[in-house]
Amino acid sequence: MSKSLQAIRGMNDILPEQTPVWRYFEGTVSRLLDNYGYKQIRMPIVEFTELFKRSIGEVTDIVEKEMYTFEDRNGDSLTLRPEGTAACVRAVLEHGITGGGQVQKLWYIGPMFRHERPQKGRYRQFHQIGLEVFNLDGPDIDAELIIMTWRLWGELGIRDAVKLELNSLGTSESRGRYREALVEYLSAHHDKLDEDSQRRLKTNPLRVLDTKNADTQAVLVDAPKMADYLDDESRAHFEGLKARLDAVGIPYVLNPKLVRGLDYYSKTVFEWVTDKLGAQGTVCAGGRYDGLVEQMGGKPTPGVGFAMGIERLVLLLETLEQIPEEISRQVDVYLCAFGEEAELAGLALAERVRDQLPNLRLQVNAGAGSFKSQFKKADKSGALYALILGDDEMAQQVVGFKPLRGQGEQQSIAWDALAAHLATCVVQG
Ligand code: HAM
Repeated sequence: MSKSLQAIRGMNDILPEQTPVWRYFEGTVSRLLDNYGYKQIRMPIVEFTELFKRSIGEVTDIVEKEMYTFEDRNGDSLTLRPEGTAACVRAVLEHGITGGGQVQKLWYIGPMFRHERPQKGRYRQFHQIGLEVFNLDGPDIDAELIIMTWRLWGELGIRDAVKLELNSLGTSESRGRYREALVEYLSAHHDKLDEDSQRRLKTNPLRVLDTKNADTQAVLVDAPKMADYLDDESRAHFEGLKARLDAVGIPYVLNPKLVRGLDYYSKTVFEWVTDKLGAQGTVCAGGRYDGLVEQMGGKPTPGVGFAMGIERLVLLLETLEQIPEEISRQVDVYLCAFGEEAELAGLALAERVRDQLPNLRLQVNAGAGSFKSQFKKADKSGALYALILGDDEMAQQVVGFKPLRGQGEQQSIAWDALAAHLATCVVQG
């Protein structure tokens, strides 16, 4: 017997009963971003592998272990994007839209790919909504990004379940000095470090701060602190950000061990985390990357951004039962017609109603069927009302109007009056 076809592990179908929540989430975020003046950009899903190596960093987990990389028919090494920042920077540079200090406030949405070990909240194909701002170097824009997400959590009803963690990595000079001090300290305790941290000490020492190993964590207690190595400029930037968050009343926790898994960050880094989802609790993360554009061949251009994981936020909405009831109803009105003549009249009537009420979600029964079976389908569709066209209604040029949820008798409505009547009883999105 042939093996049944299956989706790739860690890559999920999003089934019709799940898509209303996704669309609700995506719609809420995109409206918010429009309102703050951000513009959407769409980049390809596949890029040259070199792009990610140069931006994310050669010795990060993503580039070392997690990329979906393949050779195409021309022999070029291509990679399914593991994140959006690199491609966004490539796109703005390629099209010259950040030249001459032009400010760009951009956002994107789409699938990303990382070959991680799948578990709840961690997938191999996952979806992000990301946002990148170019040519603004002050803490005011870092604050705006965080304020915007705070508003989003409020609109979604999940504010109490998320916590903001903040850190500053400083400029690359101050980070360099800190790295030296950290390496010196950790090297003196080399034998007490776990194997992974010993390796990271050589390749990417700041990532040792991120360790989950208890022995290494114990060594880190007395390690030099990043905050003591910040230069004046980074310190002032960080203070400016905190003052703005305080002004708006956004609580945060300072986490000196927050270093992020991508190498391009400088100064501000932040993560929104929840304890409601188990191990994969970071729902949104980002920071400033003032050196990245230059590193990728552009003029010095400050940048800052973040990305949120849609799967994790959808899971959080579900876990906290914060899904508005009306979003799962996809049909307002269901039209049942009995007999061929009624079916033809019903089709024409439905189109006339749609002309007048373009936002009405009107479903016309397909596949004929008895009174009982059409009614069953009307009910199952979730519609609020059924419209009925049978012999009697045809003779009188009316339609039966029957409430399906709750009280109310069936009434007869003249065909010409139907749209006006529906407009009074259905709230249209
Ligand atoms: P990141 O921290 O790698 O940052 O990912 C951002 C978010 O994507 C995470 O906080 C998480 O919610 C979600 N995410 C990441 N990996 C997975 C996964 N395997 N399964 C499910 N969700 C996942 C970035 O990608 C940066 N490009 C963010 C950024 C934009 N920084 C500046 N601009």
